[in-house]
Amino acid sequence: MAIRMRPDLANLPAYKAGQRPAERTDGLATFKISSNENPYPPLPSVLEAIARAAQNSHRYPDPLCTDLIAALATRFDVPAENVAVGTGSVAVCGQLNSATITPGSEVVYPWRSFEAYPIWTSIAHGVSVQVPLTADWAVDLDAMADAVTDRTSLVFVCTPNNPTGPAVKHADLVRFIDRIPAHVPVVIDEAYVEFARDPEIADGLALHRERPNVAVLRTFSKAYGLAALRVGFVIAPPELADYVRRTATPFGVSTIAQEAAIASLNDEAELFARVDALVEERRRVERALREQGWHLPTSEANFIWLPLDDTQGFAAHAETFGLTVRPFPEGVRITIAETEANDRFIEVCAAWQALTS
Ligand SMILES: Cc1ncc(COP(=O)(O)O)c(C=O)c1O
Repeated sequence: MAIRMRPDLANLPAYKAGQRPAERTDGLATFKISSNENPYPPLPSVLEAIARAAQNSHRYPDPLCTDLIAALATRFDVPAENVAVGTGSVAVCGQLNSATITPGSEVVYPWRSFEAYPIWTSIAHGVSVQVPLTADWAVDLDAMADAVTDRTSLVFVCTPNNPTGPAVKHADLVRFIDRIPAHVPVVIDEAYVEFARDPEIADGLALHRERPNVAVLRTFSKAYGLAALRVGFVIAPPELADYVRRTATPFGVSTIAQEAAIASLNDEAELFARVDALVEERRRVERALREQGWHLPTSEANFIWLPLDDTQGFAAHAETFGLTVRPFPEGVRITIAETEANDRFIEVCAAWQALTS
């Protein structure tokens, strides 16, 4: 007799990780620009912290992440009890769902957006309420507020939005939160916020300080360049942070990850100079594509979004140039990466225009 599995999970969308580039025989360097990774390796000071921490690999990590939480509380000027750490912000996102969803309750989030939202919602026996983006590929806050009901247990606002790039403005987010009942947590997923340059962008931490139900989700994977080490965190109202801790896998965040994250917080100036360089590269690529005639939303993240019909065809075309991009049904997402990869991506787009016009 077959093992009885949860039938509702049979249709769970699989998380599609960025593909590896295909092997090539012509010696052309290949680039995986499909996962929004940081192209810079860890700083020497961070590598030293990793090497030091590795010497204690026979010991369990601190399950409470005491030093990292203290460092985050100091860095963001919040009480330590408001901070919870997890194995990447994707895991913290799952813990936020486990901590708040009761069976059948609803999770409201923009769509298309971060693909973990529907997965975690289903695993926690919640119901996804996906609110379509605006025609400009931005989060539609008015429509999201309209979608909140007495069944809503959690709201995610992804800003800048993955995979499309626009960020929400502060005044708009304030108006939005005014419309959400205070018992419904609003999680502002700021995985890419360090790349944002719009002076009017929403300040999630300021809202967290002012409102009883606002949490901010952050990661060390993107601007801080520690994607492989799996460490992210939420700054949340204390009762929510407490429940996020209760729903964690015990000892999840390794000592290496904790120490590397602390070392990164100590070297932010150098890391953020790299972020500035990536932002300049993003602007250069956006300018070049607009000169080629592409219409794309202005990105505030470390990727850009090309609205397209034949996204699979475009991805196959980019692959012939040694670039692995991330196709979605409505467009293609491309990570801003090494200058060589960005230059080649501009060529890919020009060649596609020539092929299809
Ligand atoms: C919007 C958003 N949130 C959270 C994450 C999770 O990142 P990590 O688990 O590496 O911290 C991602 C990763 O791509 C993301 O795009």
